Amino acid sequence: MPHSRISRRHLQCRLGLLAGLALSSLLAWPAAAQGQTPITIKFSHVVADQTPKGQGALKFKEVAEKKLQGKVQVQVFPNSQLFGDGKEMEALLLGDVHIIAPSLSKFDRYTKKIQLFDLPFLFDDMAAVDRFQSGPKGQELLKSMTSRGLLGLAYWHNGMKQLSTGKDKLARPEDARGLKFRIQNSDVLEAQFRALGANPQKMAFAEVYQALQTGVVDGQENTWSNIYSQKFYEVQKIVAETNHGVVDYMVVTNAKWWNALPADVRQGLSEAMAEATAHANRLAADLNARDREHIAQAGKARVQTVTASDLAAWRAAMAPVWKRFESAIGKDMIDAALAANRQP
Ligand code: LMR
Repeated sequence: MPHSRISRRHLQCRLGLLAGLALSSLLAWPAAAQGQTPITIKFSHVVADQTPKGQGALKFKEVAEKKLQGKVQVQVFPNSQLFGDGKEMEALLLGDVHIIAPSLSKFDRYTKKIQLFDLPFLFDDMAAVDRFQSGPKGQELLKSMTSRGLLGLAYWHNGMKQLSTGKDKLARPEDARGLKFRIQNSDVLEAQFRALGANPQKMAFAEVYQALQTGVVDGQENTWSNIYSQKFYEVQKIVAETNHGVVDYMVVTNAKWWNALPADVRQGLSEAMAEATAHANRLAADLNARDREHIAQAGKARVQTVTASDLAAWRAAMAPVWKRFESAIGKDMIDAALAANRQP
C-alpha cells in the first residue's frame, strides 16, 4: 500500500485520540476553554496572617478567585516574605507586585497630606477615623497619588497605638526623655518623639523584634495586634495604654496595571475589595481587644493604664507637632478630621 495512503481505520484512531486530548484539557481548566490563562495577582504585606490586614488580604483572595473563577489567581505574601517595608512601594511601581497595604505612615514620599493620620491625639477613636475616611476628604486622599502611579482602593483598619518600653517606667512624657524609640518611616512620627526629648529610629517592621531584644532601641509604638503578633511584648517591660495615635492602612495598586485590566476583571476585583474591606474592618476592634488580653495574661510586659492627668501631659508634650505640619497637610484636612471626632 503506497505510503501516502493510510488506512481509514488508522486515521479514525488518530482523530479519536486528538478529540479525547482536547476534551480532557477543556474539562481541566474552565478559563483555558476561552483561551484565557488566569491573571496572577501578587498581594504583599508585612504583618502576620492573624491580624486585621492579614485577614483582609486572605478574604480578598477568597472572594476574588470565587467571583472571577479561572480568570485570576491571587497570591498573598504576608510577613515581608516577598517585599519588606523599604521595598514594597518601589516593587508596586515596578509591577513586581500588584497590591500592597502599607500603613498610612509610609506615604509621605508620595503625598504630604496623608501625614494627617500620624498627628498625635488627632482622632479620639477608630470610629472617628472611619468617619473621616468615609467622608469627602478621606476619599480625596485615596486618589491623591495617581500622578505618582499609585491608586488607593480602600482603607483598612488596625487600631490605636500604644507605647512600650524595656525600661522600668513610662507613665509620663518625661519618662520617654533620652530613650530610643523605633518608628515607621514618617517625619511626623520623628517629630512626635523629638517633642518628648526622645531619640526616634526609623526602622522596617521586620527588624523591630530583634532591635528591642538587643537594646538597639528601648521601645516602640504600635497596636495591640502588632505588639502581640510580632511578640514585642516578650522583650518589653511595659505597654502603656496611651491610644496616642493610629495604625491604619491604604490598600494601593499600580494605577497603570489596574486601569489596563479587562473591565469585567476590574469590576470583580473592586467588589472583592469591598467585601474584604468590610471583613477586615469588622475584625479589627475584636482582634486588638483579644490581643490586649493575651498580652495582659502572658506575664511578660505589664499593661499599664494611663491616668487622665498623665494622658493630658502626653497630649500637651506632643501638641507642637500639629502646628509644624499643618501647612503641609492642609488645615482643611485637619479640620475635617477634628469634625469626625464629633458623633454625626
Ligand atoms: C509598622 O511598620 O509598624 C506597621 O506599619 C506595620 C503594619 O503594616 O501594621
